[in-house]
Amino acid sequence: MISPSILSADFTNIKDDFLAMDEGKADFVHVDIMDGNYVPNISFGPGIVKQFKKLTDIPFDVHLMIENPENYIEDFVKAGADIITIHPGATKHLNRTINLIKSYGVDVGLAINPGESLDVLDYTIEDLNLVLIMSVNPGFGGQSFIESSLRKIEETKKIINERNPRCKIEVDGGIKLDNAKEVLDAGADILVAGSAIFSKECPKDEIIKFKELMRI
Ligand code: DX5
Ligand code: ZN
Repeated sequence: MISPSILSADFTNIKDDFLAMDEGKADFVHVDIMDGNYVPNISFGPGIVKQFKKLTDIPFDVHLMIENPENYIEDFVKAGADIITIHPGATKHLNRTINLIKSYGVDVGLAINPGESLDVLDYTIEDLNLVLIMSVNPGFGGQSFIESSLRKIEETKKIINERNPRCKIEVDGGIKLDNAKEVLDAGADILVAGSAIFSKECPKDEIIKFKELMRI
């Protein structure tokens, strides 16, 4: 499955990029929320997400790179989030925040940064719908894929197979058409791609190419 990251979309022409995701049959819209605190960059908040939601029926995969995400879960649910992913280091009481997200009936994901181990999954994996393996340090689009992510995806897959086979693995950062196959082979179910889709002439064609690659 493919989840185009609109962080790299053309915000002066956003309707066209949403049309491209519809026509290319993207599985999700990946929505990066950054607060200038947990990560060095700032993106946008729930008010903008609510407006974007009017442009498509594709489910919204909301990636919160913000401190104290527990304070904003309700806002993002009301804005139309279908999956909410948080970073364990951004919230003080991880189990409580996971349960809060689930209490709204949306899917919950946990993001693991490149320098972080998978230990946090030991007491959370049964509660998760998604593990988001960050293959770049969070904060910016257009960075290079960190190779050690492949081993981490394989290890995550093992944990998931043993303890929560319905949980999906999503991989975010530096995904291109030429490395997508090895990421899928390592165990990824959902690929996030921002610059590889929206910095190209025809985003729809890029989405279709990713989808074709997943069928092989
Ligand atoms: C990075 C974000 C990513 C970003 C990916 O912090 O979480 O979703 O948009 O961008 P690319 O695909 O360009 O690496
Ligand atoms: Zn992201």
